[in-house]
Amino acid sequence: MPERTKTGVPGLDEILDGGIPKENLVVISGDPGSGKTCLCLEFLYYGAMKYKEPGVLISLEESEEEMIKIASFFGWDFKKLVDEKKVEIIAVELYDFEKLRATVEDAITRLNAKRLVIDPGVVFRLYFERELDARKRILSLGRTLKKSGCTAIITNEISLDKTSSLFGLEEYVADGVILLYHTKLEDRFIRSIGVLKMRGTKISEKLHPITISKDGIRILAKQELFEEV
Ligand SMILES: Nc1ncnc2c1ncn2[C@@H]1O[C@H](COP(=O)(O)OP(=O)(O)OP(=O)(O)O)[C@@H](O)[C@H]1O
Ligand SMILES: [Mg+2]
Repeated sequence: MPERTKTGVPGLDEILDGGIPKENLVVISGDPGSGKTCLCLEFLYYGAMKYKEPGVLISLEESEEEMIKIASFFGWDFKKLVDEKKVEIIAVELYDFEKLRATVEDAITRLNAKRLVIDPGVVFRLYFERELDARKRILSLGRTLKKSGCTAIITNEISLDKTSSLFGLEEYVADGVILLYHTKLEDRFIRSIGVLKMRGTKISEKLHPITISKDGIRILAKQELFEEV
């Protein structure tokens, strides 16, 4: 059994047979507002606080300040983690893929990071006019990350009506795929999580309900989504 990186997110390691296999690359795909960013911040927070694993957050949408603010809503003091060099947040402009790759590598080395998040990863697509170029580059980024010693999460904004992303990022690069749903069921929205794949891992075959509160995301690992509805 591979060594694992415990996410620390309540309930998540339980449905992942103990955690994400170390140095794997996982894509978290999900509906808008389904909790992708929240889960990523929580992964970095527990990494730094509980497991003494520094983490790097590459933010392709929000500024560092904005990210710190979002984390503070959940009671996570990222300002302190940044000051203590346990977390580094890098807001990257969207224009040069090679530059992005170099930035990622530098930050990982600087912090001796064990966790990496790129959020939202979907904007990779905007770098390229041709799908083939995108695939090649994303593959090469995946290889870079593997060599870096980090367990990495890249988020992907998709509507889960269609579970495959535009460039097949999941199929070609990721070792694991986690799906976050925020879907309408009759007269309300419900949140749930499912693991589509995770190499070397006995995964839960079920969809599990999740809650988001002021303490962040929690996965109800013992419950199945449809047992009560
Ligand atoms: N204190 C709270 N209690 C309950 N729900 C909350 C609380 N704080 C935030 N939320 C909800 O948690 C979700 C957080 O979503 P988040 O931004 O992580 O999703 P996302 O998948 O990254 O979205 P996007 O596709 O916009 O990037 C939002 O739907 C928000 O309404
Ligand atoms: Mg987000």
